[in-house]
Amino acid sequence: MTDVPAFVEARRSIRSFRDAPVDRRLLDGVVTAACLAPAPHHSRPWRFVIVDTPAAKVRLAAGMGTRWRSDLTGDEVPSSRIEELVAASHATLTGAPALVLGCLTGDGLDRYPDVARQRAEWGMALLSLGAAVENLMLAAADAGLASCWVAAPIFCPDAARDALGLPDEWLPHALVLVGEPDPTYAARPRPSVPLEHLRAWR
Ligand SMILES: Cc1cc2nc3c(=O)[nH]c(=O)nc-3n(C[C@H](O)[C@H](O)[C@H](O)COP(=O)(O)O)c2cc1C
Repeated sequence: MTDVPAFVEARRSIRSFRDAPVDRRLLDGVVTAACLAPAPHHSRPWRFVIVDTPAAKVRLAAGMGTRWRSDLTGDEVPSSRIEELVAASHATLTGAPALVLGCLTGDGLDRYPDVARQRAEWGMALLSLGAAVENLMLAAADAGLASCWVAAPIFCPDAARDALGLPDEWLPHALVLVGEPDPTYAARPRPSVPLEHLRAWR
């Protein structure tokens, strides 16, 4: 096995937290780390919304929950199962001490007249948001905080945006739960990296 820096190994997705608020300076610190990520054309096509008040967490969870309920109904999932899923998601979001919502904007991006290049440009912005979120989670781990990326807003960016009253051009794409780790939570076993399968040499 090749060596991996300990700080990379140390970050795990932790989905359970101590019931304690997170110092806002720490939250600003992890968001600052996110904003040091590489981005196309020296742009920073992201905005981060820190959601740490109970009312805002409920608004976000309820807004996305309404959309998810409607999507699942369209998928013909049984209504009892829908209510189970939506309630579990609501509990996850409102139970985390803080949520950091990563939004994409078109700020600083190049414009193209054709769909293919415009899509590639947006793809670059999305990649850079992923880099920013990884920076955020590494910084959180370094500060002794637990974190977990939650996919939900990428499926309903407008619902998440409207729930928090964000500007039209801020499109939520990534949500990170942040808090002090629940000492009883054990991260899921991490499979080893099958390098022979995942990388090629030429
Ligand atoms: C884009 C993305 C979306 C994710 N969405 C969720 C999610 O909705 N719920 C969740 O519990 N974990 C989510 N995860 C966390 C992954 O499950 C986790 O990273 C993976 O299992 C590897 O575990 P580790 O982060 O502890 O190494 C997501 C991760 C990524 C990168």
